[in-house]
Amino acid sequence: MEETSLRQAIDEAAVVLTRFLDQRKPVAGLILGSGLNCYADTLEQAQTLPFGDVPRMGVSTAEGHRGCFVLGKVAKTDTWVLCMQGRLHGYEGYSAAEVAFPVWVMQACGIDILITTNAAGAINPAFKVGTFCLMTDHINATGRNPLVGQEPARMAQRFVPMMDAYDPSLRARMHEAAQQTQVTLEDGVYLSVLGPSFETPAEIRAFATWGADTVAMSVVEEVIAARHCGMRVVGMSLLSNMACGVEGGDPTSDEVMDVARAVEQDFTALMDAFLQKLSCE
Ligand code: HPA
Repeated sequence: MEETSLRQAIDEAAVVLTRFLDQRKPVAGLILGSGLNCYADTLEQAQTLPFGDVPRMGVSTAEGHRGCFVLGKVAKTDTWVLCMQGRLHGYEGYSAAEVAFPVWVMQACGIDILITTNAAGAINPAFKVGTFCLMTDHINATGRNPLVGQEPARMAQRFVPMMDAYDPSLRARMHEAAQQTQVTLEDGVYLSVLGPSFETPAEIRAFATWGADTVAMSVVEEVIAARHCGMRVVGMSLLSNMACGVEGGDPTSDEVMDVARAVEQDFTALMDAFLQKLSCE
């Protein structure tokens, strides 16, 4: 994306997304990561807008990422949510600003809460595959940042504070939802790498000494952009595997997708309960 045209690109895309929303006010924008795309299929009165129909937006090439916006109501409620079925990743060749682009666009359409989800490897040996982990904080080990350059600094402040980037009161709400639905939800520090190779055992040992509990290849660029434009953020991972070398972990992408399929119902119950809580705020 040409740096000088970022604001204009966001505004152009926001026109199309605003038309798609058609006066409906989603309680949040929800990015559905690897294996979690199916949540959008549970929504009622769902309508779909392919990423390719949104000007200046990249298209998904990652496995299990359908590449569309889905607007719908949480089942049996009047709560609207805007999902992204799939996301853009740095490892697909997108710049950090391109990865963050849909977050800026959602905010330009009046969405003020971002829920971003992914599948992640567990570095913390106490964590169990098939459970979930709420991000309490992150470590950006991608070497990239979507705010680099002149344009983001013109849109909002350049030096964005990252204290409590993952909103404490929304985290408390998610824990309430987890208790209510009896879904196991850990708390942990999330570390993002660029990928697409999985980590080596030595890297995972190093990340553990830094204080990381989980690892994957997405999320941090979205969260930085969301904080930059003042959105409140929730980040949650499905623990799809033990990280490389932890308790015999040797992740493959097939393993990630298989685990996600097995916990679809837990994810749906948890997310439904959380979104309903948001609608009561
Ligand atoms: N490492 C990096 N990315 C991932 C992993 C992992 O172990 N699991 C799912 N995405």
